[in-house]
Amino acid sequence: MHIVQEAPLATRTTLHLGGPARFFAEIRTESELLEALAFSDAHQLPIFVLGGGSNLLVPDEGYPGLVLHLVIDGPIKRRGDLFDVPAGTHWDAFVRYVCELGISGIECLAGIPGLVGASPIQNIGAYGEDVSQTIHTVRAYDRHTFAFTTLTRDQCGFSYRESLFNSSQRNRYIITSVTFSLDPTATPNLTYADLRRHFSAATAPPTPLDVYHAVREIRDAKGMLLPDPASGQSIPDHRSAGSFFKNPVVSPSALATIAEALAIPESDIPRYPAPDGQIKLPAAWLLDRAGFHKSYILGEAGISSRHTLALINRGHATYADITRLRDHILQTIQDRFHLVLEQEPVEPRPEPRPELTTQAGHRGRA
Ligand code: EPU
Repeated sequence: MHIVQEAPLATRTTLHLGGPARFFAEIRTESELLEALAFSDAHQLPIFVLGGGSNLLVPDEGYPGLVLHLVIDGPIKRRGDLFDVPAGTHWDAFVRYVCELGISGIECLAGIPGLVGASPIQNIGAYGEDVSQTIHTVRAYDRHTFAFTTLTRDQCGFSYRESLFNSSQRNRYIITSVTFSLDPTATPNLTYADLRRHFSAATAPPTPLDVYHAVREIRDAKGMLLPDPASGQSIPDHRSAGSFFKNPVVSPSALATIAEALAIPESDIPRYPAPDGQIKLPAAWLLDRAGFHKSYILGEAGISSRHTLALINRGHATYADITRLRDHILQTIQDRFHLVLEQEPVEPRPEPRPELTTQAGHRGRA
């Protein structure tokens, strides 16, 4: 394992901005992970785990600790309906592999950038599927017990764009592989309007691979097919972190407030059912109605010309430029609709090191 100092992070993220990592290591195996953790212990460094960089907003000052670029790879192992996938596998490559086997369950998640190891963290989802439906177990290093452990789907605490990995136990686990359970008799899920429209003239039911290609086409039309930062491709509308805000999940009474603010009937507000009688509202629609349209510009930051929910780096944006636009949007939405939107991209910030609260010296038990 090789540790580099002052490594640029901007080129490793799809937003292409932010400062360097003080220390940076590529992690290819679980034992390299243990070595890197020993280094962080020895130097009292906070750590941040970087995957595909597609959901990251790096501060201009960079990261003052050790960034672990988790690229653990290797073959996908199939055990009947179970698929063990190393964390560093490209998410879309795994989706394609499964679809080519004619197996359904993750086809609607085609074209999502990033790596398999990051998929449970924010419970990635699109077009009616999310990974909480197919994850069987997650293997991770537990920074509290200093040992590798396996969490079941229930233990992961999944909900919309959330799991224990990004909420109650943030910073505790480092995911090294994910096991998916895929039912070979399942058929593609076509609940979303965009997909149904795509196949409206089809004479035979689409295969998982047909849906894989359809989803990629739809995402591409919305500018949501982000190139891998490592490819060096740089298309202005694509310098984004995908959806910048989560779709707010609100109580039915919030609808009345929005309808009143816009002087429209509640029935004109697009919405989706959410658990416990709550309602999920499209953040893109709310932005649009608050005056933040596609191609909106604020200095070097802007909104994609193809999807209102994607904030973009127009070329030379800094963290400060993006957050100025973000804060302007958040404030306007709050003033107009009394609604607080939540940011989806993660900001790497030093957090308290869990090891410091526990007796040292247990590191390395596998
Ligand atoms: N809409 C607009 N303007 C736009 C785009 C959308 O008003 O420019 C409104 C429309 O009412 C539309 C609704 O928003 O019907 C939903 O739009 P879309 O289907 O594009 O989905 P989304 O809510 O914007 C979510 C996920 C995406 C995922 C798509 C497809 C979140 C935060 N985003 O976006 O995930 O691909 O659904 O299911 O949940 C991501 O998280 O990075 C991401 C791309």
